[in-house]
Amino acid sequence: MKNLFSIVLLSIVAFSLSSCYYDIEEELYPAYSANSCDTSNITYAKDIQPMLQSACYSCHGTGIGLGNVTLEGFANLQAYIADGSLIGSVDHDAGFSPMPKGGTKFSDCNITKIKIWVREGAPNN
Ligand code: HEC
Repeated sequence: MKNLFSIVLLSIVAFSLSSCYYDIEEELYPAYSANSCDTSNITYAKDIQPMLQSACYSCHGTGIGLGNVTLEGFANLQAYIADGSLIGSVDHDAGFSPMPKGGTKFSDCNITKIKIWVREGAPNN
């Protein structure tokens, strides 16, 4: 009886320790957590426009238009959504110029957000 009690107690301790460790691991390494990319409620104003502004407008802003491409402004963006070059370029797909030119490729999370937003019909929200 005493042995059984020890086993039960040990199991409880082991279980609580392991779940505790798991929690801490997720907090320490959020990039490795499957849930770290929040793809809910993606909007043009909150997610897409700021991304393009920080990485693309320096070359594709209004009045700059390198490569004859202007991405600033919702209306201007439409052509590059329609021909697939917005996604093709940030995803570094074959047949498109990899973007941002000379810069760091967008994170998988940000590329996923753009793809989801486009798949949802690229709403101006
Ligand atoms: C340093 C300047 C620069 C930056 C920053 C930049 N681009 Fe470009 N982009 C260019 C140039 C120049 C071209 C013309 C094609 C080429 O030279 O590769 C181009 C072409 C494009 C094209 C047409 C490509 C094709 O294959 O049809 C798209 C779409 C595009 N850029 C999107 C973006 C996006 C999205 C970003 C931000 C993530 C971005 N660019 C950042 C310079 C830039």
